[in-house]
Amino acid sequence: MAGQEEIPEGTIRNVLEQESLKWVFVGGKGGVGKTTCSSILSILLASVRSSVLIISTDPAHNLSDAFQQRFTKSPTLVNGFTNLYAMEVDPTVEPEETGSSDGMDGFLSDLANSIPGIDEAMSFAEMLKLVQTMDYSVIVFDTAPTGHTLRLLQFPSTLEKGLAKMMTLKSKFGGLLGQMTRMFGVGEEFGEDAILGRLEGMKEVIEQVNRQFKDPDLTTFVCVCIPEFLSLYETERLVQELTKFEIDTHNIIINQVLFDEEGVESKLLKARMKMQQKYLDQFYMLYDDFNITKLPLLPQEVCGVEALKDFSQHFLKPYKPLFIRGTLEEIEIRVSRLQEQLKEAESELERARKGKKPINS
Ligand SMILES: Nc1ncnc2c1ncn2[C@@H]1O[C@H](COP(=O)(O)OP(=O)(O)OP(=O)(O)O)[C@@H](O)[C@H]1O
Ligand SMILES: [Mg+2]
Repeated sequence: MAGQEEIPEGTIRNVLEQESLKWVFVGGKGGVGKTTCSSILSILLASVRSSVLIISTDPAHNLSDAFQQRFTKSPTLVNGFTNLYAMEVDPTVEPEETGSSDGMDGFLSDLANSIPGIDEAMSFAEMLKLVQTMDYSVIVFDTAPTGHTLRLLQFPSTLEKGLAKMMTLKSKFGGLLGQMTRMFGVGEEFGEDAILGRLEGMKEVIEQVNRQFKDPDLTTFVCVCIPEFLSLYETERLVQELTKFEIDTHNIIINQVLFDEEGVESKLLKARMKMQQKYLDQFYMLYDDFNITKLPLLPQEVCGVEALKDFSQHFLKPYKPLFIRGTLEEIEIRVSRLQEQLKEAESELERARKGKKPINS
């Protein structure tokens, strides 16, 4: 953290070394590699911590895909580990789905609109309450794409607002509140006091967790992105929001980087690399005080524990391309590759001239 003017290292080691960390959020735009990165982070943490829990709060749960194992809403031991658990939490309904528009429901929808996300916030709080009691050494969150994550991080104020609103309405409308019970999915047998009690109870957990989330010794947020404009833009938005919520963030993982190491001759790839370089430069400029970890784009998906473990090496050592463009070695490789390609093309031409089909068709 604060102090010496060191250039932050281009790896995620700092997260593994920060023994006080209890909550590690991993977030970013859709499809950039959040699940892959959070899974790997949890695997790495399991090697240095006594027990690790990874939780997916993404409605499109994909921890199961990454680990190639079914998970449920209670923690399940990940195959091949003795101290790594995973769970997939069911997200709740969208706020719009709770409100209805006509008649006397006017004020119910008014309430729903004034405290959007209250359902979600409460289920998140309940989950955190549960997890708190479980005593894991560190908890990693594979979060949903940015907007959703930010909503969850807002949940303490959402709940507080909800509580305040309920109180005002209680004094104004008395018995009518009973009707709202249904809105919160609590059976009719529970009265308004039950709801208020539940909210009050939640508030305590919320305040406690909120304090922890705002403590950089306990909580950090790892931003995952790819070197493209929209992702850079989204990362900036995320970092700003996190700063606003006072949540620590000092790691950015740039995934799917094309490294110029194969003597690539493809115009398309070269253009993509050039584009990526432009955004990489911007990332380094904007986030010069962050640890920026670059991960290579692989020819295949990162699926299953073995693939995740294999890919995890890039979290610990800055990626080094095999060859650097312009070196004698790289030029020799390019030349021999081109010679091979020329040979292939010549024999294909030969075949075509003889009226035979090309090999690949
Ligand atoms: N560096 C990489 N090289 C190749 N494939 C990758 C790489 N990183 C991730 N993938 C693959 O890309 C796909 C999307 O990755 P992942 O599921 O981790 O993204 P995500 O951000 O969690 O997506 P979503 O927003 O849908 O939850 C997966 O199939 C994963 O295996
Ligand atoms: Mg995912």
